[in-house]
Amino acid sequence: KTIAVIMVGGPTKGTRFRPLSFNVAKPLFPLAGQPMVHHPILACKKIPNLVQVFLIGFYEEKEFALYISTLSNELKVPVRYLQEDKPHGSAGGLYKFKDFLMEDDPDDIVVLNCDVCCSFPLTEMLDAHRKHEGMGTLLVKKVSKEVASEFGELVADPKTGELLHYAEKPETFVSDFINCGVYIFTPDIFVAISDVASTHKERAALRRLSSFEEFHFSSKTTPADFVRLDQDILTPLAGKKRLFTFETTGFWEQIKTPGMSLRCSLLYLEQYRQTSPELLATGDGVISTSIVGDVFMHRSAKVHPTAKLGPNVSISANARIGPGARLIDCIILDGVEVKENAVVIHSIVGWKSSIGRWSRVQATGDYNTKLGITILGENVTVEDEVVVVNCIVLPHKTINRSVQEEIIL
Ligand code: GDD
Repeated sequence: KTIAVIMVGGPTKGTRFRPLSFNVAKPLFPLAGQPMVHHPILACKKIPNLVQVFLIGFYEEKEFALYISTLSNELKVPVRYLQEDKPHGSAGGLYKFKDFLMEDDPDDIVVLNCDVCCSFPLTEMLDAHRKHEGMGTLLVKKVSKEVASEFGELVADPKTGELLHYAEKPETFVSDFINCGVYIFTPDIFVAISDVASTHKERAALRRLSSFEEFHFSSKTTPADFVRLDQDILTPLAGKKRLFTFETTGFWEQIKTPGMSLRCSLLYLEQYRQTSPELLATGDGVISTSIVGDVFMHRSAKVHPTAKLGPNVSISANARIGPGARLIDCIILDGVEVKENAVVIHSIVGWKSSIGRWSRVQATGDYNTKLGITILGENVTVEDEVVVVNCIVLPHKTINRSVQEEIIL
């Protein structure tokens, strides 16, 4: 039996995702028309003998309640949200709910970071995991040297795949193989976490006794039950024949910024083409809208037949796209109105915003740079014939003049 756990974190972790995280918990932000967390859940659904899916986080339970109840019906696998009272770290969070997670007596526990966009080769990973008989398997990927330090860097035995060395976001280069935040563990992981928590406790006790220790341990404010999967578990267990790596050949990105959510929307739309083409808009209808490449359109969205959409366009519920509008590489959230002949390129348009006639909302930068894409927060009004280029606009603003490379507060 296998269970899946998705670590969703909580509100304090989402600051880089502003202004979009003002309205919705980051794990529920739509990528290719489905909440971020939905993509890993669907991937877990394909695992043979999957008995339960858990979401662990410190968001208020009510934020996830509606999503979870709809999802459980749809998936026919029980899905539960387990709420931490405070952050316990990625491993501490798991440990806190050990009894719930072990209820079904699983042989394997799939643990996924919520903020990664991935082809999730979980079945292949499980096969590899069962063959090497270690305690855990990590999904890894080779990236360019320039970006490797943003992640956990690791060295693995090229023949056996054993994890030999692990350094979390190191200052000096270790390796261009990185940790993708996708793991499979046996229940022994709980013993490993509990050992670390005990060491933390002992240190805390020592610190209370010794002013010398207090002076030398900068981690004195970290509670003993705060345990991180990466530096507290992977680093000490590397080289002990307990952890193994599995290299992905599929796509993988991390989603820390709104810009990356636009890039990940593109990747998931591309994946639909292979896995669920029925989710992609075809433009068929009595009078057809022009569709270029991969486009997702919620069934309640109203798109004028003379509008042209794509590639990489996702349109959420109740959006209205007017005559002659042109949308390329964008996410249009619920209730947005794009008026006639407006153009939206390389942008995210927030809930209930409105883009005026003949206006342009666009950007030209990299997905991963600060003003690389234009983002309009909730309920922003762009008046008629206004051009907004490479800007972030906070919620409830009205833009009545053209702006470029500005953060509009
Ligand atoms: N429930 C819960 N409680 N979840 C948490 C907590 C917590 O206290 N802290 C973090 N998480 C979740 C986050 O939501 C995220 O999905 C995952 O755990 C990892 O978050 P971080 O610990 O903040 O690490 P990171 O995202 O900067 O980097 C990790 O992931 C990278 C891959 O995306 C590291 O493991 C890197 O090595 C790795 O490359």
